[in-house]
Amino acid sequence: MSSAAPDPLAAPVVELANLVHEYPGAVATRVLSGISLTVRAGEFVAVVGSSGSGKTTLLNLIGLLDQPTSGTLRLAGCDVSRLAERERARFRRDYLGFIFQFHYLLPEFTVLENALMPCRIRGEAAEDEARPRIRQLLEQVGLGDRLGYRPGQLSGGQQQRVAIVRALANDPALVLADEPTGNLDSHNGRAVFDLMRELNRTTGKAFLMVTHDELFAARADRIIRLVDGQIQAGAEASALPDI
Ligand SMILES: Nc1ncnc2c1ncn2[C@@H]1O[C@H](COP(=O)(O)OP(=O)(O)OP(=O)(O)O)[C@@H](O)[C@H]1O
Ligand SMILES: [Mg+2]
Repeated sequence: MSSAAPDPLAAPVVELANLVHEYPGAVATRVLSGISLTVRAGEFVAVVGSSGSGKTTLLNLIGLLDQPTSGTLRLAGCDVSRLAERERARFRRDYLGFIFQFHYLLPEFTVLENALMPCRIRGEAAEDEARPRIRQLLEQVGLGDRLGYRPGQLSGGQQQRVAIVRALANDPALVLADEPTGNLDSHNGRAVFDLMRELNRTTGKAFLMVTHDELFAARADRIIRLVDGQIQAGAEASALPDI
């Protein structure tokens, strides 16, 4: 999974077929009604749509944080829709990285420790093995001189950069990012977006990023536009060349 050049013959990173999601309640709310979507290794895909259109729901399903009502979800060619929770947790840990609108860094740990946290959960050996790579990534995102700082000593943009490196800690094939720039001013938002795009290119990880910013979306390889629980036809092509 660490190669920057994706294997064109490999199974897609994500394959959704006719995915439906309803939230239970007195009257079940159908939020996604038949989503089919393929993301290939190394792709950078933007997900856009109005508030309440189901973007977070979609990411939560792909991130195995929730279960679809019906339809199929494959990660690396494996049907994960009906796996036991233990196996799902393993996919989450080994195959996926997550970036949220809020960074959720642990305040009592340093920058380096926070970025290494997903490896720490796998044990000391995994943490030792990952440390040089994580240090290098922290340098790449401009935090090489902040490794010993605590999150409270960083700016919002710097905190989010730590969260981006943390998402790459276990060398995932796919990074799911839900409005990663939503809590930042335009300058920091752009810097964080640029970094994700650069890391997408240099590490070969696929990114699926929810954004309300059309300029960022236009710089993705593809745009997925959610309308009324479905992908709007013809909306997948990128409007602007990436710059
Ligand atoms: N846990 C839940 N239980 C019931 N309904 C929910 C739940 N979570 C979300 N919904 C409903 O599902 C719909 C889609 O929500 P979702 O959070 O996926 O939207 P979104 O596109 O991410 O919106 P935003 O841009 O505001 O983040 C909304 O109408 C919401 O009310
Ligand atoms: Mg959302």
